[in-house]
Amino acid sequence: MPVPGTDLRVGAAIRGEFPIFETATYLNSCSQGALSRRVRDAVEGWLAGWDENGAEWDFWVERNEAFRSTIAALLHAGADDVAVTTSVSQGVSALVSALPLDRGRNRIVISEYEFPTVGQIAHAQELRGAQVVHVQPEDDGSIPAERFAEAIDERTALVCCTTLSYRSGHRHDLAAIAEAAHAAGAIVLADSYQACGAVELDVRSLGADVVTGGTVKYLLGTAGLGFMWVRPEVRKALVPTQTGWFADEDIFAMSIADYSPHESARRFDSGTPPVPALYAGVAGVGLVAEAGVPVVESHVGGLVGRLLDGLDALGATVVTPRELARRGPLVCVRSTDVDALVASLAAERIIVSSREDKLRVALHLYNLDEDVDTLLDALARHRRLLL
Ligand SMILES: Cc1ncc(COP(=O)(O)O)c(C=O)c1O
Repeated sequence: MPVPGTDLRVGAAIRGEFPIFETATYLNSCSQGALSRRVRDAVEGWLAGWDENGAEWDFWVERNEAFRSTIAALLHAGADDVAVTTSVSQGVSALVSALPLDRGRNRIVISEYEFPTVGQIAHAQELRGAQVVHVQPEDDGSIPAERFAEAIDERTALVCCTTLSYRSGHRHDLAAIAEAAHAAGAIVLADSYQACGAVELDVRSLGADVVTGGTVKYLLGTAGLGFMWVRPEVRKALVPTQTGWFADEDIFAMSIADYSPHESARRFDSGTPPVPALYAGVAGVGLVAEAGVPVVESHVGGLVGRLLDGLDALGATVVTPRELARRGPLVCVRSTDVDALVASLAAERIIVSSREDKLRVALHLYNLDEDVDTLLDALARHRRLLL
C-alpha cells in the first residue's frame, strides 16, 4: 500500500528498471532475479574499466568491501562479521571445514528442505567421521521446531535449517530451532538464499549463528557471488582449513610460509573476488536496499495473498503455508504434469519454474497485481494440469 508522502521504490514505481516486463510476466525470482538497467550499466562499467585501464585492482577490492558493507547493512550486522563468498557452497564448505567433528560432537542435523549443496556438504563430512541426521516434514509439509529438538543432542555440532524452503515455500521457526540447538551447544546455519532481499532478516534477533545467501535471486545480481554472516562469538573458535589468500590476515603480505586467517569473518573468504559479479551485486542489492526490505516484504505479502486467494478459487492444491510468518515470496502448487504446465505458461511468456511435482511462483518488488491476475487467468485455462 503506498503511504502518502513516501517515495516507494516497489511495484509500478520500479517496474521500468526491468526491461523483461515489456515482453513477459516474470514470476521466477526464486531462480534468478530480473535484470535491471542499473545492473546492466554496472556490468558494462566493469567492461569499460577493463578496456580502458586493464586491471583496476584497487577498485575491485573497493567493490568487494562495498558489497560486504551493503550486505552487513541488509542483515543489521557489522561488516567484520560478513564473509564475501563466491557461492553458498564455498562459504558452507569453509564453515564446516572449521568444525572439529570430534570429542563426541560429530553430528550434523539437517532439515529435509536444505538445498542440495548443504546436504551434500554435510554428507561429505561422513568421510571425516560425521553422522548426518535428517529432520523430516510432517504430513502438512511443515517441520516444527520440536522435530529439530528431538534430533538435536550433545553430540550435535551443527544444525542446518534453511530460512525458507526452495521447494515448498515453508519458513522455519529459526528462533525456536536455535534455542534447542544452543541449549545442546550446537551452532545453527540458516541458508537464507530464498529469503534475503524479500524477507527482513535481522541477525540480532534471528537466532541463527551463520546466515548464508547470494545475489542470483531476490538480491537482483548475478551468479558467482554470495555472503556468509558469522556470529562473532562463534567465529572466534572457528578456524577454517578450507581457505584462500583473500582470507589471510594480510592479503598483500603474499606469504607462503604460514597460515594466518583474518581475525574477522573475512577468514571465510577465498581467492580473487568474483569481480563481474561484484559490480552486478552491489548494484542489485542497492535497488533492494533503496526500496527497503520491510517495504518489499509487505508488497510481496500482498501479492502472495492475492495469489493464494485466486488459487483457492481455482481449487488448486497449495503446499505453501497460509500463515504470514510461515511463508515468504514463494508459492508452490501441485501439478499433475508440471513440465507441461511450465512449458504452456512459457509459451504465453509467463515465466515460472518447478521443483518435483510443484509449480513455483515467486513474487518480488517489481511484480504487480496484474502479474498475479495474468498467471491466475492462464492457470484457469490450464486447470487440468493442477491437482
Ligand atoms: C536455498 C538455496 N541455497 C543455495 C543455493 C545455491 O547455492 P550456491 O550459491 O552454492 O550455488 C540456492 C539456489 O541456487 C538455493 O535456493
